[in-house]
Amino acid sequence: MKKLCLLATIIISFFSGQSQTYNIVPQPVSITSQKGNFIINNNTKIHPSTASFHAMEFLQQHLQKHYDIHLNTTEKSLPHSIFFITDSSLPKEGYQLNINANKMTIRGTEAGFFYAVQTIIQLLPITHEKKVTQLYLPCMKIEDSPRFPYRGLHLDVGRHFFPADYIKKYIDYLALHKLNTFHWHLTEDQGWRIEIKKYPLLTETGSCRKQTLIGNYGSGRYDNTPYCGFYTQQEIRDIVAYASKRNITIIPEIEMPGHSLAAIASYPFLSCTKATFDVMQTWGVSPEVLCAGNDSTYEFMENVLDEVLLLFPSKYIHIGGDECPKERWHQCAVCQQKIKNEHLKDEHELQSYFIRRIEQYLNSKGRNIIGWDEILEGGLAPNATVMSWRGTDGGVAAAQQHHQAIMTPGQLMYFDHAQSAYEDSVTQGGLISLKDVYDYEPIPAGLNDNEKQYIIGAQANMWTEYMNNTRKVEYMLFPRMAALSETLWSAPEQKNWERFTTGLPSLFSKYQKWGINYSKAFYDIECSVIPRYYRTDQSASQPIGISWKLQCKDSSMKIFVTRPYFEAEDSYQNEVTVPIIQNGPYSALLINPKGEVISNTLTQNFYTNRATGKKAELKTPPSNAYASAGVFTLVDGIHNGSGMSKPKEFLGFWGNDLDMTIDLGSMMPIETIILHVFEQEASWIYPPSAVTFWSSEDGKDFSIFDAVNSVDGKGNFPIIGIKKTQARFVRILAKNHGLIPLGNPGGGNKSWLFADEVEIF
Ligand code: ACM
Ligand code: ZN
Repeated sequence: MKKLCLLATIIISFFSGQSQTYNIVPQPVSITSQKGNFIINNNTKIHPSTASFHAMEFLQQHLQKHYDIHLNTTEKSLPHSIFFITDSSLPKEGYQLNINANKMTIRGTEAGFFYAVQTIIQLLPITHEKKVTQLYLPCMKIEDSPRFPYRGLHLDVGRHFFPADYIKKYIDYLALHKLNTFHWHLTEDQGWRIEIKKYPLLTETGSCRKQTLIGNYGSGRYDNTPYCGFYTQQEIRDIVAYASKRNITIIPEIEMPGHSLAAIASYPFLSCTKATFDVMQTWGVSPEVLCAGNDSTYEFMENVLDEVLLLFPSKYIHIGGDECPKERWHQCAVCQQKIKNEHLKDEHELQSYFIRRIEQYLNSKGRNIIGWDEILEGGLAPNATVMSWRGTDGGVAAAQQHHQAIMTPGQLMYFDHAQSAYEDSVTQGGLISLKDVYDYEPIPAGLNDNEKQYIIGAQANMWTEYMNNTRKVEYMLFPRMAALSETLWSAPEQKNWERFTTGLPSLFSKYQKWGINYSKAFYDIECSVIPRYYRTDQSASQPIGISWKLQCKDSSMKIFVTRPYFEAEDSYQNEVTVPIIQNGPYSALLINPKGEVISNTLTQNFYTNRATGKKAELKTPPSNAYASAGVFTLVDGIHNGSGMSKPKEFLGFWGNDLDMTIDLGSMMPIETIILHVFEQEASWIYPPSAVTFWSSEDGKDFSIFDAVNSVDGKGNFPIIGIKKTQARFVRILAKNHGLIPLGNPGGGNKSWLFADEVEIF
């Protein structure tokens, strides 16, 4: 965002003294405006109370760092001071903040004091000057307390490692958003990141992989560069103490029995086969898991946990439990013997046995376990808390069994998914917009009032396969973290999307001040391709091509469009339909009323040809999961990878053929017909086994134009038919590859056929 300096509502309010909009995220329970301003300058004193030390220190450091204002403490009851007053009658983590012209009082206990300070920080003016002599705070009264006791954010440091200093910064982000739990995912197939003194190879070997996958899962390309990193126990102690001062509990996750290849690579006796393995270099799930039959595995994990417990005082320890393939256990004599000895039904009950045994150990040390929702399979361990990630069913099942649950459903709480429909960096999965996160209701439907109380909160997860630097982490996190904080803190009746989005410019200027890299997806220009007609009467004529339709949400904004071969940019109001006359890159961006660019630049390459925009039909529709704009997707002038692309650019046929007919509108000479397809075997997507092209004058009698009986290609590629003829209609039949060969990912299942465009010249 170029020089977006929006002091906006807050600044105006300082001088009018009666604003109703304060841009506090998450929205407090109640705010009452009062007349006047409280002034903070170097003469302002803080009057402490018991348990106010950390809150006070945080405020002092923030004012010093961002405004060069220094506040001292005093035991005297001086005017124009900030008073902390202990009040244990308030709700847990709650606070009352009363800002008057002659004093500010903060009532609460330790956590409440800390959250009151976070609110004060958000009320401070956003100035980009380093030194400020006076700060004006509008007078008001706030009563506030959180809706959920568990307000979490996770970070996967297994796939990518982030240094200890950055973890502290991340913890500050949690604090600013009034979250109270940091779920630190410390061990993975791709790296073991916590020093364990008894087993030094866990970090000597397990914290390094020889190389890392480049691009999407299944790319087959590697960077040929070792990747290492771990936290020493001293660093961890330091981080735990840092978090504790910010009312944040750190829950460590030590994954078992799956996602453990880094441990197995370090100590091969841990696996069923005892073979030697490398730390995993690609993403996905390793079939090598901890042997659940051998007692030495349990002894090892208990020894690891002994050291973990010394570092982390949290009541909960996360022991993973997700995505544990059972093939090795099925083939392992020791695991099978364990199943017999313990009278277990199968490998699922063996997994349950594993989790119960570890739970028993941790319970004996006064701790409780959290596990991903797979721990429900084969029976839940007696005191376990379930983290529901495969949708919400796990949370519902846990609550119905009167077990606590934390909601982290993948469709809404996985911040490794794109925030923008036009995301052009590699991300995992589908789209989770800011509004999706804001609208998320953590209590799943179908629970009665008694069961609802077992949903203790929710959490967003940051899986870092596709985040190898901290700027990318922040780009994926912000501003969704603000929406998350309101979802977790504010009652549903306090939430209001209009109010939240009105505050976004102010929030974004805070992010800039605090050096946070954030996504501008909220300002995405909405775009679509539509058929273009000669005359306005669309029913009377055939389409002759396409137009690019652009819209933005806010009518005060202008859209600027750049076309190929035009020097000048054209400016439009907040909606425009651009006829696509020339091939090449078209781009658009959004300008606010002050003339500042506020969006990402949207760039789209168009490739028009005789088929573009024309009427077309499919004999069998695509699968609902990849239906995009229907058959028009194949004649919309856009190739996958030529701009914003991604899933919306494809039609996907699961097990079916693509059989398509195009009406060019009139007889015309044609020489080449091209079908653009996509191959990605790791995702079950195969090229067609054969493609036949036909042409016709009347749409009834077709003759073969060309045929490609053996198709070969990787990634995006064209399949081309050639012949000189005259035709009005063209038919293309691409045969589905059929069942996936055994031994390949998805072996034995139907394969996908993906196509993104047809071109006719
Ligand atoms: C998970 O995403 N495997 C918990
Ligand atoms: Zn085994």
